[in-house]
Amino acid sequence: MVDVILGLQWGDEGKGKIVDFFAKEYDIVARFQGGPNAGHTLYVGDRKVVLHQIPSGVFHDGVINLIGNGVVLDPVVLKRECDTVASFGIDLKKNLFISERTHLILPTHRALDKAAELSKGNQKIGSTLKGIGPTYMDKTGRNGLRVGDVLDKNFTTSYIKLRLKHQRLLDNYNFQEDISAWEEEFFEALEFLKKLNIVNGEYFINNAIRSGKKVLAEGAQGSMLDIDFGTFPYVTSSSTISAGVCSGLGIAPQQIRDVIGVTKAYCTRVGSGPFPTELTDETGEELRKIGNEFGATTGRPRRCGWIDLVALQFACMINGVTRIVMTKADVLDSFKELKVCTAYKLDGKETKEIPFQMDRQRPEPVYLPFDGWNKASSAANSYADLPETMKSYVQFINQYLGVSVQYISNGPGREQIIQVK
Ligand code: GDP
Ligand code: IMO
Ligand code: MG
Repeated sequence: MVDVILGLQWGDEGKGKIVDFFAKEYDIVARFQGGPNAGHTLYVGDRKVVLHQIPSGVFHDGVINLIGNGVVLDPVVLKRECDTVASFGIDLKKNLFISERTHLILPTHRALDKAAELSKGNQKIGSTLKGIGPTYMDKTGRNGLRVGDVLDKNFTTSYIKLRLKHQRLLDNYNFQEDISAWEEEFFEALEFLKKLNIVNGEYFINNAIRSGKKVLAEGAQGSMLDIDFGTFPYVTSSSTISAGVCSGLGIAPQQIRDVIGVTKAYCTRVGSGPFPTELTDETGEELRKIGNEFGATTGRPRRCGWIDLVALQFACMINGVTRIVMTKADVLDSFKELKVCTAYKLDGKETKEIPFQMDRQRPEPVYLPFDGWNKASSAANSYADLPETMKSYVQFINQYLGVSVQYISNGPGREQIIQVK
């Protein structure tokens, strides 16, 4: 049995916290896509940890964490992160496993990411520059190197061959930076990687499922950043939706039970691309300040706006969402009036569908205003304690989406989450 937790917006919905919260109910937590472009924040005691490559179940004793074949892995980031996690007394030899089919991010992939972004000028994607796009290009282009290849005695020859190919591309971009220091740390990190548990991920997970183990698949990024269904080309390069779980772990669709979608009580986006409900005024600034909306991976300010039900309904549809977790409800505590986007206006007509090319078509949001609750909610620890106006806001969203919010997160802390009754 496999449940999925994934983001319904443009990423940073609070997936890390929610996966950490539910992890104790599962035997395995598995990442199925994305790479170190992800930044998943959790609190362990008073310490804040941001995970980029390791699944968010890692702080639970007895929970196995698997980096699946659909992920792209930067060994340098992984090594650094393993050191952080080990400083909490976690034994990674016991609870971290990596699929041999997982593609490797090379130093030249990072260089290519940077060169490609620079060449795009004002059309840049706003990539995290972690080498994600070029690594997935080498995967689908059938050139990439995988974790299992590191164990092969001819690895260096394959590396040099691919590096030469990348160098020709970098020359075309006129990319001049010296990356020899990156290569040095890359090879050091490969030695570290070799000592971790490298497994055949698809047998590992299917054998576990067959023996009755419960798996939680952890998404990275968000549905609106999906390579097929996101706001292309302003997207990431992987399948961030529930369909990606099957190809990213090697499991059959019949194994998937719940798809738990995470959304903020409002909306954010980091990087370029269309965002119909974005607020560029002081209300947006206030959301950023109160919500501390700065990227967990790059530190960039996140663009902020009202919740977008057109986009959320689309995300529920393509993922088959069965339950919703709403995060950061407490961030709205001090707002007198809230707005909910219930439709888009396109060429003078109202629609509840996501248009093909949002950045060219520029839909205008149609809003329904809501009274704010104007009351501190972060101290609440039961549904009864939550403001009535917050409950009406949530009920409206449930009705619109036809899927119910089952948990409301009212603070960044591990236990600040309330089950909806
Ligand atoms: P992820 O990428 O989806 O895991 O999300 P990020 O970690 O990038 O960003 C979510 C941010 O919101 C982190 O700083 C979390 O600590 C914080 N956070 C998560 N849930 C809540 C919540 O309910 N309230 C508040 N105020 N902060 C939250
Ligand atoms: P988590 O898992 C928010 C955005 C980037 C950029 C676009 C492409 O923390 O939610 P890429 O590095 O993939 O080439 O960037 O996608 N992006 C994210 N935004 N959260 C993320 O991950 C993101 N990962 C990538 O800002 O616009
Ligand atoms: Mg994040």
